[in-house]
Amino acid sequence: MRKPVIAGNWKMYKLIGDAVSTVMALKPLVANANHCEVVVAPPFTAIKAVADRLEGSNIKVSAQDVAPEPKQGPHTGEISGDMLIDAGATRVIVGHSERRAMYFETDEVVNRKVRAALSFNLTPIFCIGETLEERDAGREEKVVAAQLAGGLAGLTANDLTRIIAAYEPVWAIGTGRTATPEQAQRMHAFVRQWISQHFDRSTAEGLRILYGGSVKPENISDLMREADIDGALVGGASLDAESFAKIVNYDR
Ligand code: PGA
Repeated sequence: MRKPVIAGNWKMYKLIGDAVSTVMALKPLVANANHCEVVVAPPFTAIKAVADRLEGSNIKVSAQDVAPEPKQGPHTGEISGDMLIDAGATRVIVGHSERRAMYFETDEVVNRKVRAALSFNLTPIFCIGETLEERDAGREEKVVAAQLAGGLAGLTANDLTRIIAAYEPVWAIGTGRTATPEQAQRMHAFVRQWISQHFDRSTAEGLRILYGGSVKPENISDLMREADIDGALVGGASLDAESFAKIVNYDR
């Protein structure tokens, strides 16, 4: 069975001190959460401090981005996968819609980042999802299929066992407007079907697909009841330890 993942994406929030106090508050609140993997994704500057405090705990650390390069080199401002591992991260969010929209990340760049992450043994949390305009035009499946084809190009079924996917409809991110569990389930089933067709059935069955977009303590349980929703990527509601812990400890 797929072990759920509840991941907090802190985006460009929290100075080091605040990041550390948040995880120190979070640790005891989720200490008994063996039903899922708990992940926090601080900004780059706080990864090391957070990872040091979480050593030996059940909370894993993710970065929010990684350089598309497979090794260190002259790339001013970029952070390589081995630097992230060195700082204590074991996962990395790749292709978040904010990076696609604001920093012009194409599927090709996302694909290079997924490969770079895998080459360093970092688990990519690979994000996909359509905009409101695309959904209103009935194109959500086409858009997501293109993101899957582009982002996963050239990967093997074995690579897929080392990836976590996150379906995040752009219209639900930071808007308070969550997809209904039925809407999310429909897209998650579509993603799994796509993986089954382009890789194989057992790879598709093993892939964890997280939902992201205005996940809160109030809606997590209903989302998690859906067959193909294997966890959540949580933005705003992950910034506060108590609220994030309520999501981690959802009603089962
Ligand atoms: P949100 O963000 O929970 O604040 O909507 C989710 C995300 O962007 O990963």
